[in-house]
Amino acid sequence: MKEITVSQAQRMSSPCPFALLGTKSASGKENFMAVSWWTYLSNHPPMLGVCLSNKGYSGTVIRKQGEFSLNLVALELSSAALNCGRCSGRDINKIEAFGIETMDADHISAPLVRNSRICFECRLNSAHEAGDHTFYMAEIVAIHADENKKQLFAFEGYRRLDTV
Ligand SMILES: Cc1cc2nc3c(=O)[nH]c(=O)nc-3n(C[C@H](O)[C@H](O)[C@H](O)COP(=O)(O)O)c2cc1C
Repeated sequence: MKEITVSQAQRMSSPCPFALLGTKSASGKENFMAVSWWTYLSNHPPMLGVCLSNKGYSGTVIRKQGEFSLNLVALELSSAALNCGRCSGRDINKIEAFGIETMDADHISAPLVRNSRICFECRLNSAHEAGDHTFYMAEIVAIHADENKKQLFAFEGYRRLDTV
Protein backbone atom coordinates (compact mmCIF):
# COMPACT_ATOMS: atom_id res chain seq x y z
CA MET A 1 0.00 0.00 0.00
CA LYS A 2 1.12 3.61 -0.57
CA GLU A 3 0.75 6.72 1.59
CA ILE A 4 -1.87 9.23 0.36
CA THR A 5 -3.29 12.64 1.41
CA VAL A 6 -6.61 13.17 3.17
CA SER A 7 -8.18 14.64 0.00
CA GLN A 8 -7.11 11.55 -1.98
CA ALA A 9 -8.61 9.38 0.77
CA GLN A 10 -11.86 11.36 0.57
CA ARG A 11 -12.05 10.79 -3.20
CA MET A 12 -11.28 7.07 -2.78
CA SER A 13 -13.88 6.58 -0.01
CA SER A 14 -16.79 8.22 -1.87
CA PRO A 15 -19.72 7.98 -2.50
CA CYS A 16 -20.59 9.86 0.68
CA PRO A 17 -24.01 10.70 2.06
CA PHE A 18 -25.28 14.08 0.86
CA ALA A 19 -27.70 16.65 2.28
CA LEU A 20 -28.70 20.29 2.10
CA LEU A 21 -28.43 22.00 5.46
CA GLY A 22 -31.00 24.79 5.96
CA THR A 23 -30.77 27.83 8.22
CA LYS A 24 -32.74 31.00 8.90
CA SER A 25 -30.92 34.04 10.29
CA ALA A 26 -32.28 36.47 12.90
CA SER A 27 -33.04 38.89 10.05
CA GLY A 28 -35.10 36.20 8.27
CA LYS A 29 -32.61 35.22 5.54
CA GLU A 30 -33.05 31.55 4.58
CA ASN A 31 -30.12 29.57 3.14
CA PHE A 32 -29.02 26.06 2.15
CA MET A 33 -25.47 24.67 2.00
CA ALA A 34 -24.25 21.31 0.67
CA VAL A 35 -23.07 18.87 3.37
CA SER A 36 -21.45 15.44 3.12
CA TRP A 37 -19.86 15.32 6.54
CA TRP A 38 -22.92 14.39 8.58
CA THR A 39 -23.61 11.35 10.72
CA TYR A 40 -26.12 9.86 13.13
CA LEU A 41 -24.86 10.12 16.73
CA SER A 42 -27.50 8.67 19.08
CA ASN A 43 -30.83 6.84 19.02
CA HIS A 44 -32.07 7.83 22.52
CA PRO A 45 -32.38 10.76 22.23
CA PRO A 46 -32.15 10.85 18.44
CA MET A 47 -29.11 12.96 17.53
CA LEU A 48 -27.00 13.76 14.48
CA GLY A 49 -23.81 15.72 13.83
CA VAL A 50 -22.60 17.95 10.99
CA CYS A 51 -19.04 19.13 10.44
CA LEU A 52 -18.84 22.60 8.86
CA SER A 53 -15.92 24.68 7.62
CA ASN A 54 -15.22 27.76 9.73
CA LYS A 55 -15.15 29.85 6.52
CA GLY A 56 -18.79 29.28 5.57
CA TYR A 57 -21.88 31.33 6.41
CA SER A 58 -24.13 28.54 7.75
CA GLY A 59 -22.04 27.80 10.86
CA THR A 60 -22.33 31.43 11.97
CA VAL A 61 -26.12 31.23 11.76
CA ILE A 62 -26.29 27.86 13.56
CA ARG A 63 -24.22 29.22 16.47
CA LYS A 64 -26.57 32.24 16.80
CA GLN A 65 -29.94 30.60 16.13
CA GLY A 66 -29.25 27.15 17.65
CA GLU A 67 -31.11 25.18 14.97
CA PHE A 68 -30.93 23.88 11.40
CA SER A 69 -32.62 21.47 9.03
CA LEU A 70 -30.88 18.58 7.26
CA ASN A 71 -32.55 17.52 4.01
CA LEU A 72 -31.69 14.33 2.08
CA VAL A 73 -32.76 15.90 -1.19
CA ALA A 74 -34.11 13.97 -4.18
CA LEU A 75 -32.51 13.27 -7.56
CA GLU A 76 -34.33 16.13 -9.35
CA LEU A 77 -32.45 18.61 -7.15
CA SER A 78 -28.95 17.36 -7.97
CA SER A 79 -27.90 20.40 -10.02
CA ALA A 80 -29.36 22.96 -7.57
CA ALA A 81 -27.88 21.06 -4.62
CA LEU A 82 -24.39 21.01 -6.13
CA ASN A 83 -24.67 24.76 -6.74
CA CYS A 84 -25.49 25.24 -3.03
CA GLY A 85 -22.02 23.85 -2.33
CA ARG A 86 -20.27 26.25 -4.68
CA CYS A 87 -21.32 29.69 -3.39
CA SER A 88 -22.08 31.33 -0.05
CA GLY A 89 -25.34 32.57 1.42
CA ARG A 90 -23.36 35.67 2.39
CA ASP A 91 -23.29 36.70 -1.31
CA ILE A 92 -26.39 35.22 -2.92
CA ASN A 93 -29.98 34.12 -2.24
CA LYS A 94 -29.51 30.44 -3.22
CA ILE A 95 -33.19 29.57 -2.78
CA GLU A 96 -34.23 32.09 -5.46
CA ALA A 97 -31.15 31.65 -7.67
CA PHE A 98 -31.46 27.83 -7.88
CA GLY A 99 -35.27 27.54 -7.61
CA ILE A 100 -35.43 25.45 -4.43
CA GLU A 101 -38.99 24.83 -3.21
CA THR A 102 -39.11 25.05 0.58
CA MET A 103 -41.70 24.20 3.24
CA ASP A 104 -42.10 25.22 6.86
CA ALA A 105 -40.76 22.99 9.63
CA ASP A 106 -42.96 22.10 12.62
CA HIS A 107 -40.54 22.94 15.46
CA ILE A 108 -37.75 25.12 14.05
CA SER A 109 -37.65 28.29 11.96
CA ALA A 110 -35.11 27.01 9.39
CA PRO A 111 -36.78 25.93 6.12
CA LEU A 112 -37.08 22.34 4.82
CA VAL A 113 -36.57 21.26 1.18
CA ARG A 114 -39.90 19.94 -0.14
CA ASN A 115 -38.41 17.50 -2.69
CA SER A 116 -36.54 15.30 -0.18
CA ARG A 117 -36.45 11.65 0.88
CA ILE A 118 -35.95 12.66 4.53
CA CYS A 119 -35.96 16.06 6.31
CA PHE A 120 -34.59 16.32 9.86
CA GLU A 121 -35.45 19.23 12.15
CA CYS A 122 -32.45 19.76 14.47
CA ARG A 123 -31.74 21.79 17.62
CA LEU A 124 -28.10 22.51 18.46
CA ASN A 125 -26.75 20.70 21.49
CA SER A 126 -23.02 21.58 21.36
CA ALA A 127 -20.24 22.79 19.06
CA HIS A 128 -16.71 21.35 19.05
CA GLU A 129 -13.67 22.82 17.32
CA ALA A 130 -12.05 20.38 14.88
CA GLY A 131 -9.12 22.04 13.12
CA ASP A 132 -10.46 24.20 10.27
CA HIS A 133 -14.01 22.85 10.87
CA THR A 134 -16.52 22.86 13.75
CA PHE A 135 -18.51 19.74 14.63
CA TYR A 136 -22.12 20.59 15.59
CA MET A 137 -24.00 18.00 17.65
CA ALA A 138 -27.78 18.38 17.49
CA GLU A 139 -30.95 16.73 18.78
CA ILE A 140 -33.36 15.60 16.08
CA VAL A 141 -36.76 17.05 17.08
CA ALA A 142 -38.79 15.83 14.07
CA ILE A 143 -38.29 13.68 10.95
CA HIS A 144 -40.37 13.84 7.75
CA ALA A 145 -40.01 11.26 4.96
CA ASP A 146 -41.18 10.29 1.47
CA GLU A 147 -40.10 6.73 0.64
CA ASN A 148 -40.78 7.26 -3.08
CA LYS A 149 -37.91 9.79 -3.40
CA LYS A 150 -34.37 8.65 -4.20
CA GLN A 151 -31.51 9.91 -2.02
CA LEU A 152 -28.40 11.58 -3.46
CA PHE A 153 -24.76 10.69 -2.72
CA ALA A 154 -21.56 12.64 -3.50
CA PHE A 155 -19.18 10.90 -5.93
CA GLU A 156 -15.54 11.57 -6.90
CA GLY A 157 -14.96 13.34 -3.59
CA TYR A 158 -17.57 16.07 -3.75
CA ARG A 159 -17.65 16.71 -7.53
CA ARG A 160 -20.79 14.90 -8.67
CA LEU A 161 -24.17 13.93 -7.14
CA ASP A 162 -26.10 10.80 -8.09
CA THR A 163 -28.23 8.02 -6.66
CA VAL A 164 -26.72 4.58 -5.87
C1 LIG B 1 -20.96 17.60 -2.53
C2 LIG B 1 -20.52 18.65 -1.54
C3 LIG B 1 -20.40 18.33 -0.19
C4 LIG B 1 -19.98 19.29 0.74
N1 LIG B 1 -19.89 18.95 2.07
C5 LIG B 1 -19.49 19.88 2.98
C6 LIG B 1 -19.42 19.55 4.37
O1 LIG B 1 -19.73 18.46 4.79
N2 LIG B 1 -18.97 20.53 5.22
C7 LIG B 1 -18.63 21.80 4.77
O2 LIG B 1 -18.25 22.65 5.59
N3 LIG B 1 -18.72 22.13 3.46
C8 LIG B 1 -19.15 21.21 2.56
N4 LIG B 1 -19.26 21.55 1.25
C9 LIG B 1 -18.94 22.93 0.83
C10 LIG B 1 -20.03 23.93 1.24
O3 LIG B 1 -21.31 23.50 0.83
C11 LIG B 1 -19.68 25.30 0.62
O4 LIG B 1 -18.50 25.79 1.23
C12 LIG B 1 -20.79 26.33 0.70
O5 LIG B 1 -20.43 27.39 -0.14
C13 LIG B 1 -21.06 26.88 2.10
O6 LIG B 1 -22.21 27.67 2.00
P1 LIG B 1 -22.59 28.84 3.02
O7 LIG B 1 -21.44 29.83 3.03
O8 LIG B 1 -23.85 29.43 2.43
O9 LIG B 1 -22.78 28.22 4.36
C14 LIG B 1 -19.67 20.61 0.31
C15 LIG B 1 -19.80 20.93 -1.06
C16 LIG B 1 -20.21 19.96 -1.97
C17 LIG B 1 -20.35 20.33 -3.43
